[in-house]
Amino acid sequence: MPSYTLQVRRYLPESGKGPFWQRFEVELDETLSVLDGLLQARDDLDGSLSVRCSCRAAICGSCGVKINGQSTLACKTRIGEAHELANRRNGGGQPIVIEPMGNMPVVKDLITDMESTHWRKFRRVTPWLQPEGDPPEREYVVPAEAMIDVTQAMACIQCGACVSACLSMEASPEFVGPAALAKAYRFVGDPRDGQTRERLHDLAQDPHGIYECTHCFACVDACPKGVAPMDQIMRLRRIASHDHKITDRNNGRRHEEAFTKIIRAKGTLDESLLLQESFAPGIAGKLKPPRGALKALLASLPTAVRGIRTGKMRSLRKLIPGIHHKLPGDAQSQVKRIFATTEQSRVELNLYIKGEGSEDEPVAAAAAESEVTA
Ligand code: FES
Repeated sequence: MPSYTLQVRRYLPESGKGPFWQRFEVELDETLSVLDGLLQARDDLDGSLSVRCSCRAAICGSCGVKINGQSTLACKTRIGEAHELANRRNGGGQPIVIEPMGNMPVVKDLITDMESTHWRKFRRVTPWLQPEGDPPEREYVVPAEAMIDVTQAMACIQCGACVSACLSMEASPEFVGPAALAKAYRFVGDPRDGQTRERLHDLAQDPHGIYECTHCFACVDACPKGVAPMDQIMRLRRIASHDHKITDRNNGRRHEEAFTKIIRAKGTLDESLLLQESFAPGIAGKLKPPRGALKALLASLPTAVRGIRTGKMRSLRKLIPGIHHKLPGDAQSQVKRIFATTEQSRVELNLYIKGEGSEDEPVAAAAAESEVTA
């Protein structure tokens, strides 16, 4: 039977001391899970080790932890694979590192307080249907294709792995966050709900709402159920800005429009135009900036300086207007063709209609079925 070393970050509040690391040697089949390893350590080596779990089948969402730095479910991670991952670069001597989830206060060992960072925000998005008008005599009838659109968001088991991995929440703890916003899409996308515009307006105007996501993809990587919370947030933004023309006080919609306008014109991002186009777009904006634009521009300067200092903005030259070139040759026309194609149709792909390899035809058919005209 193979043996594995688990290095667990522990915290015992009753001890009055800070967190510490403890190693456990466990023996179990490589196909069993990291959770099985933790339970063996608790049962055979140290009964004080605390871990939360219930179903042991990736259904209840209780056993979220970080394994080798990646937020995931302990019961869904094979111990042999976790060992391989820990030793990819080190030839075999490294332990499997297990920590409590991030962005949440730790209650004890691997158990985190999900109320303050997860459930509170989950309730914030009104996670229930709010239909309009009188209820039908019998059940609400929903077309199957409308439900396909929200099935991906419905697959969420509320484990909190995406919240743990979210880099925006790390920088801004009040961010509503990937799990709650994916749940918001579940109701925005449901044809039975009568509060679509109100929900979108609320989440667009909130400074910690849909525009605080920075597209880092960490939640997409972490989600053990393929919910891809960031995709759901982008859907919320698209419906809020494109379909409902909601202009938010955070300037998120205009900022996105500035990005697309610049890429359409130049193929890559001209940083020298981004702020001006975001706050005072076009020639009209340059000649007669709207009230508040100059103030907003000045308020953005510290962010720009931070971007230069941290290397996000790599070249000061790029901030000089007119320096940035268009893509060479035919490349710029190809970018324009991509814009034209995407603007003609909008295809929503999700868990049930994303496909690979040989199954092209059913995938294309299902995608066409869910096509939404822009
Ligand atoms: Fe239920 Fe892991 S124990 S999801």
